[in-house]
Amino acid sequence: MATIGPQDGPVAVTGASGYIGSWIVQDLAEQGYSVRACVRDASNPEKVAHLTALNDEGLRGSVELVEGDLFEPGSYDAAFAGCGAVIHAGAAVGYNRETPQEVYDGCFTEVEHVFESALKAGTVRRFVFTSSFAAVGHPRPAGYVFTEKDWCGDNVEAYQGRWSDDNIPKNRDIAYAKAKARAERMLYERAAADGSIEAISILPLHVIGPLMCVNHDQGWSWQNCIRFMMQGKPYKKSRGGRMLWNNVDVRDVARAHRLACERSGAQNGSRYILSAADRSGELFTWQLRDRLASLYPQVAEIGGEEMEGDVPADATYDSPRSYCLLAKEELGLETFDIDETLRATVDSYYRLGLLG
Ligand SMILES: NC(=O)c1ccc[n+]([C@@H]2O[C@H](COP(=O)([O-])OP(=O)(O)OC[C@H]3O[C@@H](n4cnc5c(N)ncnc54)[C@H](OP(=O)(O)O)[C@@H]3O)[C@@H](O)[C@H]2O)c1
Repeated sequence: MATIGPQDGPVAVTGASGYIGSWIVQDLAEQGYSVRACVRDASNPEKVAHLTALNDEGLRGSVELVEGDLFEPGSYDAAFAGCGAVIHAGAAVGYNRETPQEVYDGCFTEVEHVFESALKAGTVRRFVFTSSFAAVGHPRPAGYVFTEKDWCGDNVEAYQGRWSDDNIPKNRDIAYAKAKARAERMLYERAAADGSIEAISILPLHVIGPLMCVNHDQGWSWQNCIRFMMQGKPYKKSRGGRMLWNNVDVRDVARAHRLACERSGAQNGSRYILSAADRSGELFTWQLRDRLASLYPQVAEIGGEEMEGDVPADATYDSPRSYCLLAKEELGLETFDIDETLRATVDSYYRLGLLG
């Protein structure tokens, strides 16, 4: 099946104003693509100025803003016309106070509309969907290493009744995981039935790395949690701040989307976990705090998890372990070192005036 390059027409990116979407746009423009950056409101400089500014950076490609909304069927018809590939990174993930049902619809129901616009174009050969590790992870013993063969619906009995469609309107995490997994399966089936297009998914884990604009500091995002830790505040997203951070750089996630359009190793149904490259990128919160402290010795206090003296107050459940080995092997992805990623994340907060 066809791979695509800059000569095959523009590439459209939904969710282009977002944290991941913006880096996808930048990477494509750097590599010489004409990018149709699909945003909800092209007149809002807080969300789009960093995208239009790319046209002044002397990149080989270019960026054009096109408006569209996931919740309006046909909204992307014009944006996708003549495109060689579509990267669908837009989603209602909950940052805009969406209900669990809206998260489900934004991540599954509406994906069908977006895909229909791609089919209608008649020129789109690759449809790359930003899924999530949520479509993979499920209850497993500590230390279990997840791979692309895992699906969130595996081992349902271990969810103790929580894994039911009745819980979609009640539980954001269930809604999100089910929606992403169903969207993937729907896309692979429809693409196979159509025959002219291949659907490929990128499944990121904890995405951190530099922010391109202030708006990327969405409350409760992983990057936002790092900002709070740098302000000396405890990590609050999990009990006692205990979590295994399985980190991936947003720039690596972005590149993987482009490579999924370009490489023949990827084909319809391919899914790529974007997580740590090796164990150095997997850090318990106390280890993450220690790394930040070693990179920023001038910062007096950095927050983290509950400690008793120098040791964690309690043990952290050892999950999720997973490595982006398939993306390296089949897409040829090269990844940033964890310290480079942490430094770039924090430095971008300083540069944007959100720290210090
Ligand atoms: N960040 C992570 O750690 C992570 C991990 C796994 C998977 N993902 C997936 O990666 C994708 C991007 O996430 P992100 O972290 O970059 O989040 P983000 O910064 O909030 O980006 C989400 C994007 O979707 C757009 N969007 C939301 N509702 C929309 C609608 N109704 N119509 C059109 N566009 C809409 C947003 O536009 P506005 O700017 O107008 O709101 C924004 O551009 C999502 O699919 C998410 O599920 C992220």
